[in-house]
Amino acid sequence: MRLTKMMVLLILMAFAATPAVAKIKVVGKGDKMNFDASQIPSDLKGAYEIMKVKCIQCHTMERTVIAIQTGIAPVTGQPFDKQATKAYGIKMLRKPKSNMSRDEVKQVVNLMNYLIDESAKP
Ligand code: HEC
Repeated sequence: MRLTKMMVLLILMAFAATPAVAKIKVVGKGDKMNFDASQIPSDLKGAYEIMKVKCIQCHTMERTVIAIQTGIAPVTGQPFDKQATKAYGIKMLRKPKSNMSRDEVKQVVNLMNYLIDESAKP
């Protein structure tokens, strides 16, 4: 029992510590969490703005941030890597009332791939 509690605590601590390790800083907590806009390169700013508006219609950005930082999709527990981003994008696009275009999703997928690369840097 005590060991289980200890492990839960360690996992929580690892999550809390992640933003400091990732190259692109994360600002805000909980519902307000997002990647730091000032660190997004100019050619991806457009995609960042799309993500900021379109990807918080059904859930907050925290879900996407955690997926990118940990490499694990937080709801299903499936891998969230560069091989998977496109499929997740399409999955989101196909949800009822997703209010996104194919091109918008494509741009966000491109941005997520960049963020995954950056998160992997020491
Ligand atoms: C129309 C509603 C809707 C929109 C818009 C939406 N999502 Fe989601 N998202 C969901 C639902 C519902 C889930 C719960 C898991 C599932 O059904 O796949 C989810 C889950 C997720 C997950 C976790 C997936 C998992 O398997 O754990 C990520 C990451 C995610 N969304 C990212 C995004 C991104 C990035 C965008 C913008 C391109 C976006 N979402 C837009 C509804 C939406």
